[in-house]
Amino acid sequence: MRILVTGGAGFIGANFVHWTRRHRPDVEITVLDALTYASDGTALDPVRGDITFEQGDIADAALVDRLVAASDLVVHFAAESHNDNSLVDPHPFLQTNVIGTYTILEAVRRHDVRLHHISTDEVYGDLELDDPARFTEDTPYNPSSPYSSTKAASDLLVRAWVRSFGVKATLTNCSNNYGPYQHVEKFIPRQITNGIDGVPAKLYGEGLNVRDWIHVDDHNSAVWAVIDKGRLGETYLIGADGEKSNKEVVTAILRALGQPEDAYEHVTDRPGHDMRYAIDSTKLRTELGWAPSYADFDEGLRATVQWYRENEAWWRPMKDATEARYAAASLPA
Ligand code: NAD
Ligand code: TYD
Repeated sequence: MRILVTGGAGFIGANFVHWTRRHRPDVEITVLDALTYASDGTALDPVRGDITFEQGDIADAALVDRLVAASDLVVHFAAESHNDNSLVDPHPFLQTNVIGTYTILEAVRRHDVRLHHISTDEVYGDLELDDPARFTEDTPYNPSSPYSSTKAASDLLVRAWVRSFGVKATLTNCSNNYGPYQHVEKFIPRQITNGIDGVPAKLYGEGLNVRDWIHVDDHNSAVWAVIDKGRLGETYLIGADGEKSNKEVVTAILRALGQPEDAYEHVTDRPGHDMRYAIDSTKLRTELGWAPSYADFDEGLRATVQWYRENEAWWRPMKDATEARYAAASLPA
């Protein structure tokens, strides 16, 4: 099988490439990635000789057409992915998440190539802290931010291309990922690297917001389960029952770093900050027999902290620029 992985130099995409090399060595991988601020491409260094890499934009119709024509499957990770950035400048989110996905859809339609579209649970909006409900595949879309609304738009485009043009696509919406190679702008790596630098962790608002954490390898094993066994046209939610408040996560990071559990500070809250995400992954588990392998969040987090300790050469070049962006944005800093 020849697969085209868009955004394969980013956090989840690069881990997907590594996972695929480990578990599916027969698969031929081409990565299409623009190498935006979000990736310098080095997350792919360990597999450089085993894959084909094309630097380019998913909104470049001619390039996408050529690469899709040579593929049996497109796994579409490429996106602008950070809520805080989307509050400063939504434009790249519209361009990549909406126009980029449209460009991919037109190419898979022309060449009758299977597509797997990667999305987020944030398309469903948020839940109250005391609400027993979790998101299911039937939850109505209600996105809050420029990021989540453009991801919602991309999902709806995929569904429309399935229905109107018979495009062969599956979709997954996953909860918050953690693990190696995550950009230091995101919550967990930002606090781990702050801790390594002796800077207090930054908790937006009261720190009561809840995210449903999943290890990136569990996300990617679920993506493969859907590629292998998922029904065309269907959406599957991916989650590992990992609900934690941001404060719980910060104290777990500080414990893993061997630092005092109060080495954090409360900073200005994110505007429109979603309160809680929670995934009911019954459909994925019962229909496709998937189960996560990282059962213990603290253990997965300790391994991630260790990874950032051992791979400073990977994250150090982006740390100062990221903190400068936070400081300049007059957003939570
Ligand atoms: P990321 O920002 O780490 O990586 C995105 C990659 O896409 C980068 O390598 C970037 O260079 C590339 N890219 C951006 N614009 C591009 C363009 N126009 N053309 C080609 N490449 C481009 O993001 P991530 O966290 O790895 O997220 C990957 C996907 O997973 C996204 O679709 C995101 O919405 C989804 N997702 C993320 C999470 C999470 O917790 N991070 C959870 C659920 C779903
Ligand atoms: P983030 O990693 O940006 O993911 P998302 O917004 O997609 O959930 O943030 C996760 C949670 O952590 C979210 O509730 C915002 C919060 N947060 C902080 O408290 N401090 C920070 O420095 C960052 C980046 C996020």
